[in-house]
Amino acid sequence: MAVLVTGGAGYIGSHMVLALLDADFEVVVLDDLSTGFDWLVHPEAALVRGDVADAALVRGIVERYDIEAVVHFAARIVVPESVIDPLGYYHANTAKSRAFLEALIAAGVRQIIFSSTAAVYGMVGCDPVHEDAALAPISPYGRSKLMTEWMLLDAAMAHPLKYVALRYFNVAGADPAGRAGQSTRAATHLIKVAAEAALGKRAGLDIFGTDYPTPDGTCLRDYIHVTDLVAAHLDALRYLRTGGASRVLNCGYGWGYSVREVVDTVKRVSGIDFPVRICPRRVGDPPAIVAGAQCIRSDLGWSPKLADLDVIVAHALSWERQLGERNRM
Ligand code: UFG
Repeated sequence: MAVLVTGGAGYIGSHMVLALLDADFEVVVLDDLSTGFDWLVHPEAALVRGDVADAALVRGIVERYDIEAVVHFAARIVVPESVIDPLGYYHANTAKSRAFLEALIAAGVRQIIFSSTAAVYGMVGCDPVHEDAALAPISPYGRSKLMTEWMLLDAAMAHPLKYVALRYFNVAGADPAGRAGQSTRAATHLIKVAAEAALGKRAGLDIFGTDYPTPDGTCLRDYIHVTDLVAAHLDALRYLRTGGASRVLNCGYGWGYSVREVVDTVKRVSGIDFPVRICPRRVGDPPAIVAGAQCIRSDLGWSPKLADLDVIVAHALSWERQLGERNRM
């Protein structure tokens, strides 16, 4: 069975490609390489450089490779950037997804897995947030993804289409075998930034806010290993193939760590101390966001294997070291 992965040259997409190949699927990647890297795509996958909104291209790929299911990652993903360039985000994430969806439906694709985000919830309390919580995204990024969830909902009622939208919490870590990892330049995500600081790739790390209503005053997040995250997509694919109904599911572990705990873990696991500055809050950060994580386990049978912050950090560090060597080549 052939699966099309959009954004397969990016961080999460490249791990999805590995998981699909490991499970003996045929894989085609569609990526415009605007933020992804061709060298991150495993050579056993076919890589098509292009735009998800190019209907003729999408139709051609579906026909040529006999694509049965699609995993749609391609998107812009930096929340603060979406505040500065909202229309760019609505174009890249919403308008292009609309065109993509139309082309897929026209080409007869019936199974779609969509990469959504916890940002659809907005400001929530310290308790785990469940799928039926109010949706009140506070960023154009969150709204751009929520609109695509709604397009999927409506399209699945009008067409013979089933989908699973997975709302990611804080994805981190790298392939345990060192085949892929987060390679984005100028990354903003905490574990990536901390790993770079530990390895001397940046002068230190800024903690954005220590006066939140959380146990140690810094923000709480539900960090999920990228390999567990992509395993959930494989489970979703199997679920749809065996006739499962469309679902929208949180993808997180159900417990959180504070920024300080993450920073301490990176220092301990790496054995390297690095400078940390206490800075004002970053605009738009919710104090805490932790997944209500029961539904994905019961509906998809998802069973995470790497749910341990030390492991996530160790794999992130290991990839960061490897990336340094690659950059020096
Ligand atoms: N942080 C720092 N210093 C840094 C980087 C991050 O203190 O250098 C803090 C942030 O302020 C935040 C926490 O670490 O409190 C996590 O920040 P990230 O940037 O790693 O991740 P976010 O929680 O902001 O974003 C994640 C996903 C988004 C998603 C969002 C939903 O990456 O895609 O959760 O809440 F939209």
